[in-house]
Amino acid sequence: MTTYRIAPSILSADFARLGEEVRNVVAAGADMIHFDVMDNHYVPNLTIGPLVCEAIRPHVQVPIDVHLMVKPVDRIIPDFAKAGANIISFHPEGSEHIDRSLQLIRDHGCKAGLVFNPATPLHVLEHVMDKLDLILLMSVNPGFGGQSFIPHTLKKIAAVRQLIDASGRDIMLQVDGGIKVDNIAEVAQAGADTFVAGSAIFGKPDYAAVINAMRGELAKV
Ligand code: DX5
Ligand code: ZN
Repeated sequence: MTTYRIAPSILSADFARLGEEVRNVVAAGADMIHFDVMDNHYVPNLTIGPLVCEAIRPHVQVPIDVHLMVKPVDRIIPDFAKAGANIISFHPEGSEHIDRSLQLIRDHGCKAGLVFNPATPLHVLEHVMDKLDLILLMSVNPGFGGQSFIPHTLKKIAAVRQLIDASGRDIMLQVDGGIKVDNIAEVAQAGADTFVAGSAIFGKPDYAAVINAMRGELAKV
């Protein structure tokens, strides 16, 4: 049976009350905290860095899943590891040497992930499956919360599910962007096991109600 994980993205949280927000979302049933790092260079937005990761670390026991939307990535990876990140993923466009960056993440004791934008081809996967703990497929173009799920991502999810299964490796298949209660089952059906949701959770008053509704949908898959 598939283990499904829900990873609320704090991009849509109230940053003035971030400690309380992450505690509340974990109490509501979150399996990890998705931490979106944007640099106003690789993506047209600017968010949070290692200092904020370090600040929330004592508030939660669950893994902190750092999604780097930055270029270059290598300089900042050790800082996030020191700040308490458990998973660090980056976009292939953000690194000149993908294999080296993945190894750098693992050398710092974190799980390593690669992230593919809606139009980024998957061919690099062929060469790095043994260095991956997570593959993240973007179902929106990165940079902002609250965008609509791009339906052709479903085919890509199915293709990556086949690659992971064929590899026999234990690699999480995460999807990020526009995930809601009403489409999470379809995304799981396509082969995803880890679901990032920002506005669907932090945009609502009752986090547990949303997370439970998501789990209810996943139970039907
Ligand atoms: C987008 C970020 C997402 C974002 C998802 O660049 O990587 O994690 O917060 O937000 P929603 O769930 O609102 O689409
Ligand atoms: Zn993200």
